[in-house]
Amino acid sequence: MSPSRVLLDTDPGIDDALAILLALAAPELDLAALTVTGGNCPLTDGLRNGLNVLALAGATHIPVAAGVALPLIRPPITAPETHGDRGLGYAILPASPVLPVAEHGVDLLIREIMAAPGDVTLVAIGPLTNVAMAIRKEPRITEAVRELIIMGGALLAEGNVTELAEFNFYVDPHAAHIVLHSGMPIILLPWDITQHIRLTQADVDRLLQVGGAIPQFIADATRFYIDFHLRHFGWAGCSINDPAALALAFQPDLARLQPIYVDVEITSPLTLGKSVADFQGKTGKPANVRAVVEFDQERFMALFLERMEALTHTAAQRILAEE
Ligand code: RIB
Ligand code: CA
Repeated sequence: MSPSRVLLDTDPGIDDALAILLALAAPELDLAALTVTGGNCPLTDGLRNGLNVLALAGATHIPVAAGVALPLIRPPITAPETHGDRGLGYAILPASPVLPVAEHGVDLLIREIMAAPGDVTLVAIGPLTNVAMAIRKEPRITEAVRELIIMGGALLAEGNVTELAEFNFYVDPHAAHIVLHSGMPIILLPWDITQHIRLTQADVDRLLQVGGAIPQFIADATRFYIDFHLRHFGWAGCSINDPAALALAFQPDLARLQPIYVDVEITSPLTLGKSVADFQGKTGKPANVRAVVEFDQERFMALFLERMEALTHTAAQRILAEE
């Protein structure tokens, strides 16, 4: 079976970086490009981080495009306390030899999706600004895209950035609103689920046994991220939200999905960014997403660690081949 073509819209960030590495460790996928938006860190840092993570894994051939830097309406919010001042925790990566492509991220999303109707899966693991702008610029992508997998929202769980809201929806609730009401075929992986998908120091130590630059990067990036989760939530591990979303592009049976109507608050300052799911069927509105309601986190974590170990070996070969 030929690999599935995937676009990754991202705000790299530590768990985003893990999702990029997992995409590179998935022969089931053909990672077409990264499109970057502001979020965990400003766009400029996210661009640098995306390029450098690809270079770390010997994947400088994958284009990285700058998308929209700021939310559609709200002032920008970043998360240095969670991802560090430069967006990758304590990790410092060698500078990639390549630059972002000249094409705007929104145009790249449109071009790639319209060039292969029904074939391209878009995985959105940051604020949805780029996806919303792409929908507004070329509404036909809502039918041409194979599927949109979103990491975002807090449906019944308390939020992670306010008591109510999850970060990606909170940073740009207006973009999330456009996307949720676009008619795109959406799989929504909410914080309700991903908060329980935790990478522990023991998992990192297992990767360090393999040796090499990728495990060292993961260790340096997640040491900051694990510390944050311990301080902020009291957890002995960090939520790796984004690789879990990416995994659904090639291991959909990790999740049990429920069609449901989901909306997001865009008016009240008190509840801005709160996602509301109609689990009780009170709105009478048709489902606009398939929400992940169960996720096999043990099987996913085993998959993630196995793939990171394998990537460490293949990346070394890739880098030698690129030299
Ligand atoms: O709420 C978690 C999400 O917000 C993740 O995608 C994380 O990287 C941040 O973007
Ligand atoms: Ca992210």
